[in-house]
Amino acid sequence: MRPTTNIAVRAARQAGSVLLRYHDRVDTLTVSEKQVNDFVSEVDRAAEQAIIKTIRKAFPDHAILAEESGVHAGNEYQWIIDPLDGTTNYLHGMPQFAISIALMHRGKLECGVVYDPLRDEMFTADQGGGAYLNDRRIRVTEQKNLRGALLGTGIPFRDQRYIDNYLGMMKSLMRDTAGIRRPGSAALDFAYVACGRYDGFWELGLSTWDFAAGALLVKEAGGVVSDIGGGDRYMDTGNVIAAGIRMHGEMVKTIRPHLSDNLKA
Ligand code: IPD
Ligand code: CA
Ligand code: CA
Repeated sequence: MRPTTNIAVRAARQAGSVLLRYHDRVDTLTVSEKQVNDFVSEVDRAAEQAIIKTIRKAFPDHAILAEESGVHAGNEYQWIIDPLDGTTNYLHGMPQFAISIALMHRGKLECGVVYDPLRDEMFTADQGGGAYLNDRRIRVTEQKNLRGALLGTGIPFRDQRYIDNYLGMMKSLMRDTAGIRRPGSAALDFAYVACGRYDGFWELGLSTWDFAAGALLVKEAGGVVSDIGGGDRYMDTGNVIAAGIRMHGEMVKTIRPHLSDNLKA
């Protein structure tokens, strides 16, 4: 494991203790709405501060993009941090949330860490070094077609612009698959594709911090990540498909008829 990944793991564990500390008293937290249906609490901020402190101590020159505090200037290395992915779940006492930390160097992802503190599941990936769940190497599934596949997704809840496109995709995919899940943490959704719990995943309108680490996990686990049209603009559009190679092709084929002039990638 690279030294940077080690630091990301340490930072994720520290943020994990912050999340667990408040987990059974969420009713005491002060919650505010950043925009419609987008909530933040002091726990998100405290977890983010814990991560930034650890990273800054080890790599004082690196830049940071963190969901709650924004851009912290630095050199050509940039950490991309979501201190609590699944805030709505967390605030409702639903046991599905995670910490996501990625490192990007000149536009390329170098390491990715997604940590589920409740299950103590640490997903890690180094560029070129494979993906791991705790100490075990993980791989995407070899599922070839939709029949019998289990998919994950995110149902739009903030931006309703593409609701008809999305429902069309859902209708086509649900017809043939074994089931579709919406657990509520995109970072874990990607990690679950990487370790073969899902055969594929798609969602529209994600932010970079939701899936930067997850995208590297899926690729290092032998999978494919693309934008919704099957191209490589997903870091810009936030509209993503992630799956094993054959399954990815099937998903792109099924989703394509539901794209439109304003939703192509
Ligand atoms: C959210 C989760 C959710 C996804 C949303 C994200 P947050 O992140 O990843 O699964 O559907 O689009 O915003 O706000 O809980 O960090
Ligand atoms: Ca998130
Ligand atoms: Ca978050």
